[in-house]
Amino acid sequence: MLYKRTHMCGELRLADEGKNVVLNGWVAKARSLGGLVFVDIRDKTGITQVTFNEDAPEEVLEAAKGLSREYCIGVKGVVKERSSKNPNIPTGDIEVFASDLTVYSTSDTPPIYIKDDDNVNDDLRLKYRYLDLRKHKMQRNLTFRHKIVKCTRDYFDEQGFTEVETPVLIKPTPEGARDYIVPSRVHNGYFYALPQSPQMFKQLLMVGGTDRYVQIAKCFRDEDLRADRQPEFTQIDLEMSFAGVDDVIEVQEGFIKRVMKEVKGVDVVTPFPRLSYDEAMERYGSDKPDTRFGIELIKLNDIFEGCGFELFTKNLAEGGDIRGICVPGGAAEFSRKKIDKLTNEVKHYGAHGLIWIKNDGGAVTSSIGKYFSEEDLKAVLDRCGAENGDAVFIVSGTPKVTYDSLGFLRRRIAGLMGLLDDNQFNFLWVVDFPMFEQDEDGNLKAMHHPFTQPKLDQLDKLDTDILGLKANAYDIVLNGVELGGGSVRIHDKDLQARMFKVLGLTEEECQEKFGFLIEAFKYGAPPHAGLAYGLDRLVMLLLGEKSIREVIAFPKNQNAECPVCEAPAPAGAGQLEELGIELIEE
Ligand code: AMO
Repeated sequence: MLYKRTHMCGELRLADEGKNVVLNGWVAKARSLGGLVFVDIRDKTGITQVTFNEDAPEEVLEAAKGLSREYCIGVKGVVKERSSKNPNIPTGDIEVFASDLTVYSTSDTPPIYIKDDDNVNDDLRLKYRYLDLRKHKMQRNLTFRHKIVKCTRDYFDEQGFTEVETPVLIKPTPEGARDYIVPSRVHNGYFYALPQSPQMFKQLLMVGGTDRYVQIAKCFRDEDLRADRQPEFTQIDLEMSFAGVDDVIEVQEGFIKRVMKEVKGVDVVTPFPRLSYDEAMERYGSDKPDTRFGIELIKLNDIFEGCGFELFTKNLAEGGDIRGICVPGGAAEFSRKKIDKLTNEVKHYGAHGLIWIKNDGGAVTSSIGKYFSEEDLKAVLDRCGAENGDAVFIVSGTPKVTYDSLGFLRRRIAGLMGLLDDNQFNFLWVVDFPMFEQDEDGNLKAMHHPFTQPKLDQLDKLDTDILGLKANAYDIVLNGVELGGGSVRIHDKDLQARMFKVLGLTEEECQEKFGFLIEAFKYGAPPHAGLAYGLDRLVMLLLGEKSIREVIAFPKNQNAECPVCEAPAPAGAGQLEELGIELIEE
C-alpha cells in the first residue's frame, strides 16, 4: 500500500510538534534495542529519526525490528520534541513516534555506504551510481545543476532567445576532436557523426532568422578524459544575430551575474576584466589564467643576454626565452626534495629542468650558484621583486615551453601553498586570440574553428604574418578553467572561402564538409556571433567540486565506459548484418 506523504524527510521542525505526519524514504540507519527501534529515514531533502516503541501496535514494532539499511519504507506517526537533540542535522530537534509502517521494498546489503565522506573507489561508485546518487551531496549537486539550467532558461528567455533543438545524427562538426560515428542501416556504408557541438546548425538558425538562439545541448567528443572532460557533456549553446564581441559579452555578463546571485547568493562585479591572449600568456603562461593569486611570469631574456652560461645563451640564440616566477615565502616552503618533485612535474610540459634562486635571510642560494656571481643572482631576484624569504623559479626553453611549464607551476604552487580559495570567483574574458596555430607537423589550423572571423583590419596579415593575425574570438575563464568560448563568425562567403583556402582545404573538401553552410551563406546571412559554456564545468566550479563527474548523474569512467549499463558493448550479429558491417578479427 502506498502511503501519501505529508512531509519530506528533511522538513520537520520543532514547530511541527504534535502533527500527524507520513514520511516515505530509505532506511539510512536502524538500531533495535529490544522494545525500542530507532530508524533514520532518508530522502533527497535529509534525514528524520523515527522511533518505534511499545506504544506502536505490536506488529508494527515487530516489523520495525526487521528493518535494515536501504529498505524503502513509509511510516506514519506523530512529531515530538527529542529529549536528546542532534545539532548536526536540521531535523535534530524532533523525532517521529511511529504508529504504522509499510515496507515497499527490502534491500540486499548495499555494496557501498551511502555517506558523503565514504572514500570507496570510483569504479564501485559509478557501477552502483543509483545508490551513490542517494547521497545527500549527489542530490544536492543534481538539484544545484537543475537550478542553473532553470536560471539559464529564464534569463535567456527574458533576453529574447528562443530555445531550439538541433539534430544529433549529423555530419562531422569542425571542433577538432574525434567524432563518435553511428552507422546507417538505410544507407549501408554511410555514417552519421554525433555533434561535437551544434555549431553549424546554430549558424543556419541565424540564416533562418531565429535572431537569438539558446540550447542546453548534448555534445560528443572522442578525446582523452580529464577531470573537466567527458566524452558526452552538455553545453549552454548560444548564438546572436547582428551582434559583435561587445554585444555577446554584455549579454553573457548579465547571465553570469544572474546565475551567481540566484544560485550562489554572490554578487559579482561586471564588467569582467578583459585580457588579450598575448597578455594572458605573457603574465600567466596560460590562455585560461587563474587570477586568484599573483605569482606572474617575468621575462628575463635581457638579464641573461651574453651571460656566458651556455644553457641560457644557446637557448636565447635559438629564439628561446627565459622566464621566472617569484613565490613569496617560497625559500623555506620549497626544500630540495620538494623542488625535485616540481622539476619532474614541469618536465611533462617540455622543460629540461627547473632553476631556482632563493633569498634566504639575506643569503642568496641557487641551483645555478656555480655559474653566477651573487650580484648577478641578486639582480634576477630584484627583477622578480623577490624579498627576503622568497624563491624564484626559472625555466629556459622555447616560448611555449616556458609558458606551459610556468603556467602550470604557478597554479601548482598556489595549490600547495593554500592560495586557491574555492569561494572566490574570478571571472575574466580572454580576447583577441590568434586566428591560426600550427600543429606538430607545422600545418596551420584554426585555433577556434574555421568560421571564426579574423580581425577585419588585419587581413593583410594573411599574406605577411599569418600567425600574427588575431581573431574576434573570446573565452570566458573562471579560476583557471575555460568555462566557455566563442567568436564572431564570418558571414561573408568570399572571406570564408579565403580562410578555407589558407587552411589548405580544397574546394571539394569544403563542399564535402561544409557545403550546406556555404550554400546557406549565399542567401543573405546576417552578421552573427555566439558562444558556448560547458554546463558541467560551470556547475562543478560553483559547487567547488574537483571533477565534472560529480555533477553528472551517469558519467563515463576513465575508459569512456558507462559502468552502469556497461556501454560500449558488442552489437548483435543480426544488427551488424543489417548495417552491412563485418568485423575483422585482430
Ligand atoms: P568549445 O569547443 O570551446 O566551443 O566548447 C565550449 C565549451 O564546452 C566545454 N567543453 C567540454 N566540457 C566537458 N567535456 C568536454 N569534453 C568538453 N569540451 C568542451 C568547455 C568549452 O569552453 N561551437 C563552439 C562554441 C562557439 O564557438 O560558439 C564550441 O563548441 O567549457
